[in-house]
Amino acid sequence: MKTRYSPATKPVLVTGGAGFVGCNLADRLASEGHRVRIFDALARPGVETNLEWLCQRHGDRIEPVIADVRDAAALNAAARGIAAAYHFAAQVAVTTSMTDPAQDFAINVGGTFNLLEAVRAAGKGIPVIFASTNKVYGDLAEFGSQLTPHGYAPLDEQLARHGVSEAQPLDFHTPYGCSTGAADQYVLDYARSFGLPTCVLRMSCIYGPHQMGTEDQGWVAHFLIQALQERPIRIYGDGRQVRDVLHVDDAVSAYLGALGRISEVAGRAFNLGGGPANAISLLQLVGCIEELTGRKVQVEFDDWRAGDQRYYVSDASAARRALGLPRPTPWREGVADLARWLSGERAERQLVESV
Ligand SMILES: NC(=O)c1ccc[n+]([C@@H]2O[C@H](COP(=O)([O-])OP(=O)(O)OC[C@H]3O[C@@H](n4cnc5c(N)ncnc54)[C@H](O)[C@@H]3O)[C@@H](O)[C@H]2O)c1
Repeated sequence: MKTRYSPATKPVLVTGGAGFVGCNLADRLASEGHRVRIFDALARPGVETNLEWLCQRHGDRIEPVIADVRDAAALNAAARGIAAAYHFAAQVAVTTSMTDPAQDFAINVGGTFNLLEAVRAAGKGIPVIFASTNKVYGDLAEFGSQLTPHGYAPLDEQLARHGVSEAQPLDFHTPYGCSTGAADQYVLDYARSFGLPTCVLRMSCIYGPHQMGTEDQGWVAHFLIQALQERPIRIYGDGRQVRDVLHVDDAVSAYLGALGRISEVAGRAFNLGGGPANAISLLQLVGCIEELTGRKVQVEFDDWRAGDQRYYVSDASAARRALGLPRPTPWREGVADLARWLSGERAERQLVESV
């Protein structure tokens, strides 16, 4: 999907633009002719390769700013003269938020606040689109769940059929849930209080090329990386927890749709995920990886982690209607695409190392 925003001389700011979702979005924007200002502290190991890839592909259309969202002055400078802002720079892991909640708060709440203020100072009517999380809905334990051959399923039939909609009450769990949830609410309120055209996409599991998946975040890519390196996969819990997964190309279409239709969707939050058709348990993914690699994957189990939902599947129908999205990529196709990309990357790295 193309933006209805015509490529202007003004750049689009993408905080966290060297990261997984941000770099895929920046690539699509630059391919459409936009100038893209990437604001990133390169805090996540490996993301510098994403930035190099963007610069190689798009040359001057990419304007890197290596800085931290906790630095309000740097954000003020980066927001000057922009057409729109996407906000992906964040502390992204629940685990890290448990060991260092102060840093999590400073980056996710403080950084988002700094961005909103920077955009507000930069001029009227500049859209801000924010990447939020399904964790704003808590662990959903109130619905109860039962084990089925495909993993946990909610007892509530409506929920099982459609997934979690935006009508679900907010219930922040874990410092990461609180900080991202607070940022989500700030972004929405800046539409109410200051008339900033803002929009929030509450994502479940996004996967795809350029994801530096680790045990702490990005489990689809992490499982594949481990399997390709013939290393064991550690699963926290029993592996029967269910998530809806969405290919990053589909997520990027939603972010472009939000900007293209910002006058219609300003002040709204949408759930964004693969929906019931792309709901899989962790063990189902392991099975799919074994089919793709033709090898048995070694799995180790550990205790459940804080705030881990037994079942989370988004009802993304509101986003699909409002943002004009096509049917998402079927998960097996998407996982095979990521496996191909990761294999290519590994081969390239081995080639570079052997020279
Ligand atoms: N990927 C998913 O499945 C998913 C799901 C739900 C929500 N989210 C949210 O979407 C956003 C983007 O996620 P992602 O998967 O692309 O993560 P990512 O870790 O790949 O990207 C985040 C980027 O932010 C940068 N960054 C971190 N701290 C920074 C700071 N203090 N200042 C400036 N830059 C900083 C990192 O270097 C990285 O490039 C995050 O807020 C994440 O919590 C992601």
